[in-house]
Amino acid sequence: MLLTVGAGLRLPAAETAVSWYRDVTPIFKRACNGCHNPNKLKGEVDTSSYAGFLKPGKHGPNWIAGDAEKSLVLEQVRGAEPDMPKEGDPLTEAEVALIARWIREGAKDDTPADAGPRRPSSPPAYATPPVTTALAVSPDGRWLAASGYHEVFLMDAASLETRERLLGDSPRLEALSFSPDSRRLAVSGGAPAQFGEIQVWETGTNRLEHAWRLTGDSLFGISWSPDGARLAFGGADKSVRVIEAGDGREVMKFDNHSDWVLRTAWVSDGRRLLSASRDRALKLIQVPDGQFIDDINKLLEPAISMTRHPKEEWAVYGGADGGLRVYRAKENQERTAGNNDVNLVREFERQPGAVSAVAFSPDGTLLAAGGVGGEVRVYKTADGARAATLSGHDGAVFAIAFSADGHGVITGGFDGLLRRFDPVTGALQAVWIPVALTGKPGVVQR
Ligand code: HEC
Repeated sequence: MLLTVGAGLRLPAAETAVSWYRDVTPIFKRACNGCHNPNKLKGEVDTSSYAGFLKPGKHGPNWIAGDAEKSLVLEQVRGAEPDMPKEGDPLTEAEVALIARWIREGAKDDTPADAGPRRPSSPPAYATPPVTTALAVSPDGRWLAASGYHEVFLMDAASLETRERLLGDSPRLEALSFSPDSRRLAVSGGAPAQFGEIQVWETGTNRLEHAWRLTGDSLFGISWSPDGARLAFGGADKSVRVIEAGDGREVMKFDNHSDWVLRTAWVSDGRRLLSASRDRALKLIQVPDGQFIDDINKLLEPAISMTRHPKEEWAVYGGADGGLRVYRAKENQERTAGNNDVNLVREFERQPGAVSAVAFSPDGTLLAAGGVGGEVRVYKTADGARAATLSGHDGAVFAIAFSADGHGVITGGFDGLLRRFDPVTGALQAVWIPVALTGKPGVVQR
């Protein structure tokens, strides 16, 4: 039962537990979040999410579950002239009492997994094809996923027909990754300079299992650990993070990069992680303790794309200046004055512009790279010889994925058209748009 008190505050009756999500967050939203959010961490306090509020501020924990009297947040908001909110009207007595009761009752989180009036209720309409920033093919070969605006287009990988539109909070999706068993699709994205979000979808039911807002800026380069239990990703906040895919618990946070971290890849059976950053480094990190092992590469140019070889402990990265290089994912300690790039396996011909996307074929024999130049070039991994050139893109290519059988390579980018090519001959097999456009027929040739 709910009683109404004063200005619209719904006070739970004494026999009902106070809910963080329903009762406490509206108070914070109105009076606190303006100064206490991931982008504006006054006093290092974040009241805008449970996970944020759980983190201690500059002077320690914000609350002690069960002990309202000793909880800092209450100290700040109660009394005749409370310290908080720093500006605006003090909280009402009823509001203070509500927060006190929530703490006394154990300060539990009851935020629904898909907490979201923030999820769009209807799919966006497009007058022009949405730019494709990310693509992924499920390991079992059934699904092809492509990014849209606020949504993922989940396509049947054989017929190329869109089966589902997965609507989420993030307007911009930066990376898509299927779990090793193909049963889940993870998304990293966000709204630049507002929030970073991780979504986990169940591919069988198309249900949004989790949506976590974790940071105040975009999240990039999501990848699954080989056992399918953990997710790694980088951020515009220069961090590399690992969380449990089941409950979102942070397992590792690595803060050793000095610029955006755009890609991650697991190596050594999930015991180590590679991160690629605009700071030019490919860093090898121990999981879960987050110990920095080494930069595996010579720091030549911003690393804007990276993926690991499916069989060898190698990674390829594409650079902002057109470099394309394969490295061994191991310590760099044998470096000498004469050779300070000892892990380099192969350097490929320079690409015409920044290399935004790289992909290995499932057996690792082919490597595809594309970017600002608008061309995708396919190379033989073994000797670096160019096997095919995939052309026709109108503008930059941002995403490349091989089909699970290796007989097709799918590209997407600025023009919003998806294309599938034969990676050996370079022949175009299909061109399509994953969504019908308003005002025009949803083209093309399939
Ligand atoms: C206009 C900005 C503003 C608003 C609104 C605001 N705060 Fe603060 N808050 C601050 C600043 C600035 C500090 C840091 C004060 C300091 O370090 O002395 C702070 C510090 C805190 C601290 C840490 C205190 C400490 O000693 O470490 C808590 C807890 C806190 N605020 C809670 C709240 C709550 C709860 C609300 C809403 C009821 C709120 N604040 C509203 C600006 C604000």
